[in-house]
Amino acid sequence: MASSSESTLTGILTALGISIATYYAYNILSFLHLYILHRSTISRYLASDPSASETRSWALITGASDGIGLGFAHELASHGFNIILHGRSPTKLAAVETALKTQYPKISTRLFVLDVYPPNTAAIDDYVRGLANDGVRVRVLVNNIGGPTLTGSPAFRPLTSLMAVDIQKLFELNVGFPTLLTRALLPAMREPALVLNIGSFVARVPGPLLSVYAGCKAFNMSWSRSLGVELRAEGRQVEVIGLLVGEVQSSQHRELKGPLVCTSRVLARSALNRIGCGKHTVVPWWRHAATLALVEHLPDALLDRIMAGSSTTRMEKDKRLLEIQKRRL
Ligand SMILES: NC(=O)c1ccc[n+]([C@@H]2O[C@H](COP(=O)([O-])OP(=O)(O)OC[C@H]3O[C@@H](n4cnc5c(N)ncnc54)[C@H](OP(=O)(O)O)[C@@H]3O)[C@@H](O)[C@H]2O)c1
Repeated sequence: MASSSESTLTGILTALGISIATYYAYNILSFLHLYILHRSTISRYLASDPSASETRSWALITGASDGIGLGFAHELASHGFNIILHGRSPTKLAAVETALKTQYPKISTRLFVLDVYPPNTAAIDDYVRGLANDGVRVRVLVNNIGGPTLTGSPAFRPLTSLMAVDIQKLFELNVGFPTLLTRALLPAMREPALVLNIGSFVARVPGPLLSVYAGCKAFNMSWSRSLGVELRAEGRQVEVIGLLVGEVQSSQHRELKGPLVCTSRVLARSALNRIGCGKHTVVPWWRHAATLALVEHLPDALLDRIMAGSSTTRMEKDKRLLEIQKRRL
């Protein structure tokens, strides 16, 4: 017969086993629900408002001339949204506008041309005032603009190699501009409204040689959640979601390939498929989600070692690519 201490131990181990099994079963079922069963509620934001001068809802996408922003522009246009394309190059934006109008002739488009550095709060406020004067009330805002690199410089760099102005540009691109634009737009957004803030895995996984960018991306996620709760407490119907993004082929990452890399269109479509899931932070693409879930289970010391090694390799690759580009010029 088992002694009472043996049966107590067996009881504790059984309870522990059941708790762990329940935890993992819950996580697997949540995963399957989010990526297979969940039906997007994006059409909720498309509903036309009879009192409005426009019959279609407007979506504003920042950094829409290329990469993930361009992917969102196409995906939202394919749902029937009117699109406001933000970027810094009038030529690139005009080309995107022409492509959208050809593919989706029923939608309307507008351009918002503004280089986000140096910061120009007056230009943001003026643009938003102009929208109000024209009776345009944005319903969907995609704060996509951002990135780890400044044009023509390697993304992977030690903090001490960055000039003060490099750091200020990274702050502006990833944090300052999205915050100021959202502040300006929110009061006049048509409800129910949707705000998507694009983050990155480096908000959750160490990003050596990308430390400023990683910090900015952590801001995006934390800000997103707090803002969503704040707006709900104010009684506003604004769904705010932070999107955790893994590797995506985009203008600065055209060379990326592999089973864990998706195109900008796939990323944008996956993000729109997750709308209405009730989460404040979502990994849009299921393969990225599975990867992040596994990575976050690694012990910190092991993860730090892996990330240090992979960042150094990427830094060397970045340097070689830039040298090749310079030689071609
Ligand atoms: N790609 C990835 O693997 C990846 C991974 C994780 C997170 N993300 C995040 O996803 C978002 C989009 O990244 P992406 O890779 O798609 O970027 P991207 O291909 O480099 O596109 C960036 C967009 O922002 C615009 N832009 C850049 N600097 C600007 C400035 N100073 N003023 C105005 N517009 C400016 C670009 O305009 P131009 O066309 O004129 O350059 C372009 O439209 C970022 O927030 C990034 O952090 C990307």
